Amino acid sequence: MRQATLFLLVLSLALGAHSLSAKKCSLTGQWINDLGSTMKITAVNKNGDFSGSYLTAVTATSNQIQESPLQGSLQRKNQKGQPTFGFTVNWTFSDSVTVFTGQCFVDKNGKEILKTMWLLRSRVDDIESDWKATRVGINVFTRIQPE
Ligand code: BTN
Repeated sequence: MRQATLFLLVLSLALGAHSLSAKKCSLTGQWINDLGSTMKITAVNKNGDFSGSYLTAVTATSNQIQESPLQGSLQRKNQKGQPTFGFTVNWTFSDSVTVFTGQCFVDKNGKEILKTMWLLRSRVDDIESDWKATRVGINVFTRIQPE
């Protein structure tokens, strides 16, 4: 009897650990980053294409911030989970474009985290100003409403 209980305990621990590590990363849903910017990604299609909207918390301009569209692509060849992706935000309130690239990770607590790097290209008036037109940075996104 004691052996059966022990066996069941070990089995349930093993199954629990497996379901944690096997949790899939899905881009669909609402996310917030370390700056307080939020984004909503609607369904990802079979080719990995997705779209959504982005509300930045900060801007390099003096313009009033508005929600802006995003278009992205999820790498679907890898079936091992934790996929890579990229997306572009075409800012509706400025002359700039930002490209993000990153990977969707599941941490040891089963929480999904998007680790990204971005390039923000601002418009400049002349080619002599090109050197100062691109900013680079990182953003980490977590889910707003876990699914
Ligand atoms: C602009 O200022 O021209 C448009 C807004 C740029 C916001 C940047 S994009 C990279 C970084 N991550 C964010 O969430 N917001 C800033």
